[in-house]
Amino acid sequence: MGALFSIAIDGPSGAGKSTVARALAERLGAMYLDTGATYRAMGLYMARNGVPLDDARAIAENCARADIHVDYDAEGRQHVYLGKEDVSEAIRAADISLAASSVSSVPAVRERMVELQREVARGHSVVMDGRDIGTKVLPNATLKIYLTAPAEVRARRRHLELARKGMNEPFQKVLEEMIRRDETDTRRAASPLRKAPDAVVVDCSVMALDAVVNRVEALAREALEAKA
Ligand code: DC
Repeated sequence: MGALFSIAIDGPSGAGKSTVARALAERLGAMYLDTGATYRAMGLYMARNGVPLDDARAIAENCARADIHVDYDAEGRQHVYLGKEDVSEAIRAADISLAASSVSSVPAVRERMVELQREVARGHSVVMDGRDIGTKVLPNATLKIYLTAPAEVRARRRHLELARKGMNEPFQKVLEEMIRRDETDTRRAASPLRKAPDAVVVDCSVMALDAVVNRVEALAREALEAKA
């Protein structure tokens, strides 16, 4: 594929964005950037340094100190670092999901993360997933997808995923956390989760994720042809 392109995949937690985006990037030979990992790294930094997660001012004051960067291994897998430490696993803990959601509502954090994300993607064709990719990070993306499903469907999927990893969380708790994160992500003033006006909505409650990947790939190829 000749000219550079960018594909934005936004949507609520647990909709399958990362699975779809990663598979799509592989099929199109593009770089994949999971932007949520950058907010998670910031959440981890604040949690480790005892910055209260409900204190937006303290978060804003401390965010410039967090040395976050993203790199890729030989297999093309994304790793996120805090200083020299690879925190790619540590950022997946449930309490860090909530920490990420809190820090992501602070405008100073968002400014730094958007800058970092654009820098990682510069000079590459890219598939990025997040909450504000189509509305803020890549407003001129070649294709914008809004991937969604009802909270119950997303919580059921997350619950199964956790059970497979041996973490037997009660379904009700997973559902409540999902709803809480939806609320913080959609209600914050700074770049809330919104469908971009030109995004294509894909509801993944009616399709298996591999069917979603096929559908999104077809949309991407169409958009790339139209651009060529
Ligand atoms: O996609 P995720 O669950 O790893 O994201 C973690 C948190 O980061 C989530 O609560 C919302 C926030 N986020 C964001 O505000 N903007 C993005 N582009 C990506 C994630």
